[in-house]
Amino acid sequence: MNAIVAVDQNWAIGKGGDQLCYISADLKRFKELTLGHSVILGRKTLATFPGGRPLKGRRNLVLSRDPSLEIEGAEVYHDIEALLAQAPEDSFVIGGESVYRALLDHCDTVYVTKIAHSFPADVWFPDLDEDPAWQRAHEEEPLEEKGLAFRYVTYERVRPCI
Ligand SMILES: NC(=O)c1ccc[n+]([C@@H]2O[C@H](COP(=O)([O-])OP(=O)(O)OC[C@H]3O[C@@H](n4cnc5c(N)ncnc54)[C@H](OP(=O)(O)O)[C@@H]3O)[C@@H](O)[C@H]2O)c1
Repeated sequence: MNAIVAVDQNWAIGKGGDQLCYISADLKRFKELTLGHSVILGRKTLATFPGGRPLKGRRNLVLSRDPSLEIEGAEVYHDIEALLAQAPEDSFVIGGESVYRALLDHCDTVYVTKIAHSFPADVWFPDLDEDPAWQRAHEEEPLEEKGLAFRYVTYERVRPCI
């Protein structure tokens, strides 16, 4: 399973129920990587999408504890085990904080967009640089958009030597 996330210098990912910022090149890359795959998200992250609607061209697996919640164009799961039983191995966990934390142990690859800025925030992704279970597998050259510098870094789970 994969995760994909945009973080600031402090691994912050959002504030007040919204993203920290919107970088169009990053949104394009997000679409390219996730199109045709299943995406796994929390009910609050779904609410941040235009019209609160699921992402097109992807199977949307939404987590919510609300037993009556129905979402057109999405599958709703009420617990992690039920979701894991249905999620394909090539799924992308796309947030937010609670869902990343619940599913990170099931991920082998995390696509991180690192934004070279510090934003006020109230939700964070776990710091993979501080976690010996993860290593930087690939790092692209820095980019810039609207005065914000960012780069794409891919982390892979460290596999135990046999
Ligand atoms: N920077 C990025 O790449 C990125 C990506 C995605 C999101 N974000 C940001 O992250 C923030 C949202 O994160 P969040 O943690 O507050 O919300 P979230 O993870 O998007 O959604 C939380 C909701 O998901 C449901 N849920 C979570 N765990 C569950 C479980 N184990 N079983 C059943 N349902 C479960 C619950 O829904 P109910 O309340 O309906 O029960 C819970 O309230 C926003 O600021 C958003 O912009 C940032």
